[in-house]
Amino acid sequence: MSILGVYNPIDIEVDHGDGVYIYSSDGTRYLDFTSGIGVTSLGHSHPVLINALKVQAEKIWHCSNLFKITNQKKVADKIVKNSFASSVFFCNSGSEATETSIKAARKFFFEKGEKKKNRIITFEGAFHGRTIASLFAANNPDHTQGFEPRVDGFDQVPFGDHSALEKAINSNTAAIMVETILGEGGIRPLPVECLQGLRKLCNEKKILLILDEVQCGIGRTGKLFAFEWAKIKPDIVPIAKGIGGGFPLGACLMEKKVANAMTPGSHGSTFGGNPLSMAVASSVLDHILSKEFLDNVIEVGEYLKNQILEKIIKKFPKLVKGIRGKGLMLGIEAIEKNEILIKELINQKILVVKAGQNVIRMLPPLILEKKHVDEAIIKIDKAFGEINERH
Ligand SMILES: Cc1ncc(COP(=O)(O)O)c(C=O)c1O
Repeated sequence: MSILGVYNPIDIEVDHGDGVYIYSSDGTRYLDFTSGIGVTSLGHSHPVLINALKVQAEKIWHCSNLFKITNQKKVADKIVKNSFASSVFFCNSGSEATETSIKAARKFFFEKGEKKKNRIITFEGAFHGRTIASLFAANNPDHTQGFEPRVDGFDQVPFGDHSALEKAINSNTAAIMVETILGEGGIRPLPVECLQGLRKLCNEKKILLILDEVQCGIGRTGKLFAFEWAKIKPDIVPIAKGIGGGFPLGACLMEKKVANAMTPGSHGSTFGGNPLSMAVASSVLDHILSKEFLDNVIEVGEYLKNQILEKIIKKFPKLVKGIRGKGLMLGIEAIEKNEILIKELINQKILVVKAGQNVIRMLPPLILEKKHVDEAIIKIDKAFGEINERH
């Protein structure tokens, strides 16, 4: 096998995409509720993004951070203007962004002279990426097995266990790192009060709050960042996926005191913030930052959630029991095995992706309209109807 066997792709060869649809090489059209795992935020082949990439491709592709890249400042300025951050570091993926967050938290305390304050508290069920540190940060045995020795520096507590969290904080703790909505772990949002509690706890203990928004950020919940729903400000936020609209791009946002600790030479990336990714990201942000765009995510997201509740959950109580999530990051809680349901959904030409806790994850492009939701409901109804009959 010429491709390393770490994936197990379904038997659909993708030919091209258009808006919320993907077309396979045999011409079949699929309604795409995966967005390439939360990436193609403006849908496939968006004309503005194609144009941004074409124009940039004719200018320059790569020059490295040895030089100033015009669009890089433009994109960073847009993020800073619309967030808690004072500075942004660009990289190429979510894993690199979470790794940067870990480094920044440690460096912050190092620069303060508190060199032993370097441990990070994480939660069971988390996912922060596949690089060696992000892997052991999340500490999912399915992912870490065979990759020992473990990377030290992380203390893990059960998700939602407040007293375990408080007990885990000690004089060596630098930060708490958590996804604002657990994605791979089953679309589990942290309730607003929890996020506010975490902020308060970090303030009291004088430690940093890292909110991983690689999957839930950049408009997915109807706000630029999911933590905005709780009206709090984190200290460090890794992002990726949606910001590039399909072009590989990650970033780490830092509050001023943290950013000040990251001095020249302390971190870097050959490709991070390259002209091509910056040209695309600038256009992606222009769209997502409009109130109209975000309001549409909220409205269509609520419509999708309600339609599934009314027309699917109530109708198929033997197969599914609920729906959770926010905006266009939703998870149907399955009773029947999620793999079986997902297989049948794909047969009905709607693409979804599994998540932990037996969940069917839906991450449609953020340009989704109510008519697409209606189409999805017909397909889901058909798929679940087929399986129901077999029971
Ligand atoms: C919350 C979260 N963090 C980090 C990552 C890692 O991102 P990447 O696969 O781009 O390295 C992911 C990817 O799914 C994610 O969902």
